[in-house]
Amino acid sequence: MTQIVQGRSDEVAYLDLADPGFDVTGHEMERAREQNWYARTPWGWAILRHAEGTTVLKDRRFRQGNARWPAQNGIHDGAWAQWWTETLLSLDGPDHTRLRKLLMPAFRSGAIAKLRPRFQALANELIDGFAERGEVEFVSEFAEPYASRILCLLLGLPDEQWPQVAYWADGLGKSFGVNVASDLPLIEECLAGLTGYVDTVVAERRREPREDLPTTLLQQQETGGKLTSRELSVSLVFLAFAGMETTRNQLGLALQTFLRHREQWTLLGQRPELGERAVEEVMRVNPTVTWVTREAAEDVDLFGLQVPAGGIVQVLSTAAGTDPRANH
Ligand code: HEM
Repeated sequence: MTQIVQGRSDEVAYLDLADPGFDVTGHEMERAREQNWYARTPWGWAILRHAEGTTVLKDRRFRQGNARWPAQNGIHDGAWAQWWTETLLSLDGPDHTRLRKLLMPAFRSGAIAKLRPRFQALANELIDGFAERGEVEFVSEFAEPYASRILCLLLGLPDEQWPQVAYWADGLGKSFGVNVASDLPLIEECLAGLTGYVDTVVAERRREPREDLPTTLLQQQETGGKLTSRELSVSLVFLAFAGMETTRNQLGLALQTFLRHREQWTLLGQRPELGERAVEEVMRVNPTVTWVTREAAEDVDLFGLQVPAGGIVQVLSTAAGTDPRANH
């Protein structure tokens, strides 16, 4: 645990996070982190150091800040802006708790552990497709089909639909990019496509139940689980969006990390039991989620920085994860 330095330094950098060319992992971020624990950004403040970042994520004076993202990018209406405010990632308080409780049984570690042999079989099948060739375009030949087919398995969607699901999830994934406003037509097309598809699957499961997530969620609905049809549709689309692009990109970043540290790759080959720790480490030093957003629910004095109610802070993942002050 590192020590938090109280008080406000005058040396506060401005990081232009809205500039698509800005590198959140680069020297400008490192210089800013040396100057101060936070920096100013077009949307509020970025938190750069580990101790302050983890403190904010546990601080109940802040709430989830993602709901503000469409408006921050000048998008105030339309299907995507509406959908965004209804997802788990935007909700806070009782609605968040209720939805999360209804969705989470499918993701308990026991449920996931049962699927592990199928995950392994899929990985082997994909590797068999390129092993003899001795080279691979890793993202298109492994990371994307792996992430997308597992998502189809988790969500009860037919395996053969994975390329289409991947296309929609990839397009919808642009919701998080700083070019979200110019990408909006593609995002809306993918939202409509995925929603229409998920709604068809739900209607099929209503007629012919199976052992899958849509059926489980429908049964909860029928036994008074208070998940409306709209919530079911929004949530299934959200899970496809939240689960495909993140996993695909994190796998790519993991391989990139190992290519930079080949001795670690060799070590992992010799000691596969280090796999779980390797996952944590890769996500610490080379995370796919660039930042996590929070909004002040009241006026907050944050280590001397005055954040007014409604003020936005972003904990920058790479900055906090690689902060040399922290004992990682
Ligand atoms: C490497 C892969 C993944 C990464 C790096 C990742 C990252 C994250 C992060 C950072 C958050 C928190 C955002 C915040 O608090 O503002 C989050 C939330 C969430 N993720 Fe993921 N995720 C991954 C895979 C998945 C998968 C596979 C699923 C499900 C299919 C999923 C479903 C969710 C859900 C439902 C939430 C919202 C939780 C809540 O607000 O209660 N994620 N993810």
